[in-house]
Amino acid sequence: MQRKVKRNIFILLSCLSMLFIFGQFNFMPEAFKLKIPAGFPDPLIPEGNPLTKASVELGRELFFDTFMSRDSSVSCASCHHPHRAFTDGLSRSRGIKDREVGRNAPGLANVVYQTEGLLHDKGVPTLEMQILVPVQEHNEFDFNLLLIAERMKNNPLYVKLSKEAYNLEPNPYVITRSIANFERTILSGNSRYDQFINGDDDALSESEKAGMNLFMNELKCTACHSGFLFSDFSLRNNALYTNAYPLDSGRMRLTHKEVDRDLFKVPGLRNIEVTGPYMHDGSFHTLGEVIDHYQSGGKSHPNKSKEIQAFVLNEQEKTNLIDFLKSLTDDEFLRNPEYTMQVRQ
Ligand code: HEC
Ligand code: HEC
Repeated sequence: MQRKVKRNIFILLSCLSMLFIFGQFNFMPEAFKLKIPAGFPDPLIPEGNPLTKASVELGRELFFDTFMSRDSSVSCASCHHPHRAFTDGLSRSRGIKDREVGRNAPGLANVVYQTEGLLHDKGVPTLEMQILVPVQEHNEFDFNLLLIAERMKNNPLYVKLSKEAYNLEPNPYVITRSIANFERTILSGNSRYDQFINGDDDALSESEKAGMNLFMNELKCTACHSGFLFSDFSLRNNALYTNAYPLDSGRMRLTHKEVDRDLFKVPGLRNIEVTGPYMHDGSFHTLGEVIDHYQSGGKSHPNKSKEIQAFVLNEQEKTNLIDFLKSLTDDEFLRNPEYTMQVRQ
């Protein structure tokens, strides 16, 4: 008798799992087609989280929703605002209850290409994992994914979108994957510099062209700010302070090694005109201050990169260099309605 019950349970469980597998098998949400800018390579998309229209839509809703934070006061977009190329205009970001985060918010344009490590110290490997950081940090959302999922379950729109995107009820898997997918769609590659590179000789002024020559050839900024994103994403010390940095030891925070003291990820420079204040601690407010820093050759520091060497620019050349940096602004991107909240009824 007992054996028979066991067998029945076994058959029932098998049928249920067949149904589940069949259900997942039949679940094929529509793919999201990335609009990859001219001249950009195809990005790597993780196999476990294909880009789909529904997941991107869900991720976008969550990105702009303040209910992600404990007291529902702050969303991802509070610190990553689309019109500022997903930065916040502060030296160091502020989360719930105006608590200060120790670092400057980086922009999120083209973050899909950063597969080597995120944050100023490259401490987090994937976009999916990165979401845990703001959610749990005391100074950011001070919350947790399970409680966010509970809030989502009370909202029929989120329940519907979770089903459409992953065939699941709202849960941490759905939250992290959908937001990561929305972030993967944040692409910027139509600045006047790009138009010039793609064949329109008139897209840049004479001053911007002169600045480009300084940046690429004479001053060798491209030793670190290279490639289509203007970064090799290596960890470097660009000599902001002497010896120990006041707020933050950079990569050393993770490795505890002296050779990593005060090394920070080289940031990309697209849309740099609107992403200030600059550096990991927002210590420079203008591009002029940044250039003055590089002209001085920086402070002496045991880990200073050898490429940081003093140089002299006259006023005209400094203007040229700043004009070039400003030609990296992609106005179409800053106004793109696909990156703003789309309220659905
Ligand atoms: C309180 C402000 C704040 C909030 C809220 C916030 N961020 Fe950030 N974000 C930052 C700061 C500051 C950093 C840099 C942190 C570091 O390097 O340790 C950062 C870094 C990142 C990075 C790494 C980018 C890179 O170039 O390495 C990503 C991706 C990101 N945030 C996405 C998000 C998402 C998604 C959310 C919402 C779930 C979010 N952020 C919420 C301030 C914020
Ligand atoms: C040795 C590598 C290296 C070289 C060479 C270099 N930089 Fe940087 N740059 C960095 C690093 C690292 C940071 C970020 C430091 C930090 O976060 O504290 C940075 C930051 C910047 C920023 C601020 C970006 C932001 O979003 O905060 C600008 C602008 C910039 N560099 C421009 C230049 C220019 C112009 C040159 C050439 C004169 C140059 N860099 C040469 C490594 C370099």
